Amino acid sequence: MALRAARAPEAAGEVRLSEVIGAMSYALDMVEGQPMGHAARSCAIGMRVAEAAALPAEQRSALYYALLIKDAGCSANASKVAGLFGTDDREFKRGVKLVDTDRPSEMGRYLLGQVEAGGSPFKRARKLASVARNVATEQESIYRLRCDRGAEVAAMLELEDAASGAIRSLDEHWDGSGHPDGLAGDAIPVLGRILGLAQTVEVFAAAQDAAFACAMARSRSGSWFDPALVEALLSFECDAAFWDELTLTAEPAALVARLEPAETPFLADGARLDSIAEAFATVIDAKSPFTARHSAGVAALAVGIAAELGHDARVLRDLRRAGLLHDIGKLGVSNRILDKPDRLDPEEWAAVRRHPGHTFEILSRVPAFRPLAKIAAAHHEKLDGSGYHLGLTAEDLPEGARILTVADICEALSARRPYRDALPIDRVLAIMAQDVPHKLDATVFAALRAHLHA
Ligand SMILES: [Fe+2]
Ligand SMILES: [Fe+2]
Repeated sequence: MALRAARAPEAAGEVRLSEVIGAMSYALDMVEGQPMGHAARSCAIGMRVAEAAALPAEQRSALYYALLIKDAGCSANASKVAGLFGTDDREFKRGVKLVDTDRPSEMGRYLLGQVEAGGSPFKRARKLASVARNVATEQESIYRLRCDRGAEVAAMLELEDAASGAIRSLDEHWDGSGHPDGLAGDAIPVLGRILGLAQTVEVFAAAQDAAFACAMARSRSGSWFDPALVEALLSFECDAAFWDELTLTAEPAALVARLEPAETPFLADGARLDSIAEAFATVIDAKSPFTARHSAGVAALAVGIAAELGHDARVLRDLRRAGLLHDIGKLGVSNRILDKPDRLDPEEWAAVRRHPGHTFEILSRVPAFRPLAKIAAAHHEKLDGSGYHLGLTAEDLPEGARILTVADICEALSARRPYRDALPIDRVLAIMAQDVPHKLDATVFAALRAHLHA
């Protein structure tokens, strides 16, 4: 499938696809516990490797977008990682990137430090025994989930098949020791080989410097990595200007937006922006088994309420996108917290309360979604100031925010949670009615009732 042809700039409002995807990639960095800009910096490294390796020009566009969204499948295995290792999935994922997982002693040491960290000796011993029993099979499904889901998201974003293929194979190793299919050598798509090399080099360069990263690549040449690609990387090891720009820039996504290889930059029209919001909603909802359809559900309810209130198509489209993306900040919250069946302690609760702030931070970086950032980030605010994350009050809460809050609560109460079952809709509305009008907008709530015919 070819990337849909660019529309005329005026029709698309001059929004460049690379800018949107580049800025949205910050959300994927959060899932992986990586510093913001990891995917964008991996993209810059991968594109430079492609240039040094003389990758044919027609493959570079697929490579470029694959590098930016390579971690789109990572939210799908977060819950499994947290459950299997009894740890903070984001911390675990950040640390494991610096480990040579092919060396049992190195991996064993890492697991010893991570599994049920902070738990009692008995709890830790029990968990370690369960990890030892299950790690081989579970590891396979963890990799497969990530790779398959990432490839599906690439397809939802209407990227070329080669981009999906690259993401599916980014954890394969040159010597056949990788995942999920144990492919070796040339059987691994070259774009996947570049993704694997670029992402690991970025992590090591960020942890220390380019020399450290290149030493790692040299030592894994022929085992993890294609030797020809390692050679290509080493050809610019001493290009200090390249590495400095990469590490010093405050906005790596803006840097990589300039690197888009297409002769005519791809533009994101309204339909493409909708597809991006839909694709990222599935990334958000895949994070926890308890939110499987939450974002799409909130978007549908918000649109239903706004339609009842007589709003036009433009408002409905904005609200739909805001509904799809309102919880994007949750990608930065550990599944140890999101999936916890017991009461959250104050620290855990504080982490949950930060997620709308992350939503604001991410969406305000995307020019096309910036106008939605404020209302999307206000979905836990209440009219009387008792909500979070800013404690806004009625005068600071526009109608769009009030609609999202009502839609969010309605959807959340209607779905199963780690600590309770799903509630029937009459019970949901009765609970919500107790907060009208001091916390929830009365007109919006009436529109919800009308929309649900309740
Ligand atoms: Fe939320
Ligand atoms: Fe939500």
